[in-house]
Amino acid sequence: MPKFDVMISQDKIAERVREMGAKITKEYAGKPIVVIGVLKGSFLFLADLVRSIENPLTIDFLGVSSYAGTESTGVVKITHDLTKPIAGKHVLIVEDIVDTGLTLQYLVENLKTRNPASLRVACLLDKPSRAKVRVPLEYVGFTIDDEFVVGYGLDYDGLYRNLPHIAIYRGE
Ligand code: IMP
Repeated sequence: MPKFDVMISQDKIAERVREMGAKITKEYAGKPIVVIGVLKGSFLFLADLVRSIENPLTIDFLGVSSYAGTESTGVVKITHDLTKPIAGKHVLIVEDIVDTGLTLQYLVENLKTRNPASLRVACLLDKPSRAKVRVPLEYVGFTIDDEFVVGYGLDYDGLYRNLPHIAIYRGE
């Protein structure tokens, strides 16, 4: 596996994810949560985050893909839908990275139509310099510069999701 420059170490990720879980636990104050992971990039973040949340919770997944090219168009296709209704539930969307914000905007709008009691977003990484739309992000792990990153669930062309840290990808 090629070696990439480490942007965020495994230890720093673990520490921050624990802090996020503690904040979520405090703010939801014992309420049950439906945690929705956005596939595939969020799978490791979600796995660690839920182990730091002490509320009763259930987990569901949404699969999404952008229709065109490498740049997000905002035209998102749901490739795997939720298995249960979320009406009246406290929903927490767990996303790996917010880049243009278009994918998340679509997901938030879509989930709102299903009438959850509340809807919040936890994302590991935010790249605000690339934002085309701003979607409220209640829980953000790290704000990063405009770099393409891989590891800890994030991929380039399907690869490198298994790196334990977040690394900057600058080509092979
Ligand atoms: P957005 O619609 O532009 O916000 O794109 C969000 C999606 O693009 C994320 O969920 C990722 O799947 C992907 N993405 C954006 N930036 C990166 C990156 O730096 N590395 C890996 N995937 C990325």
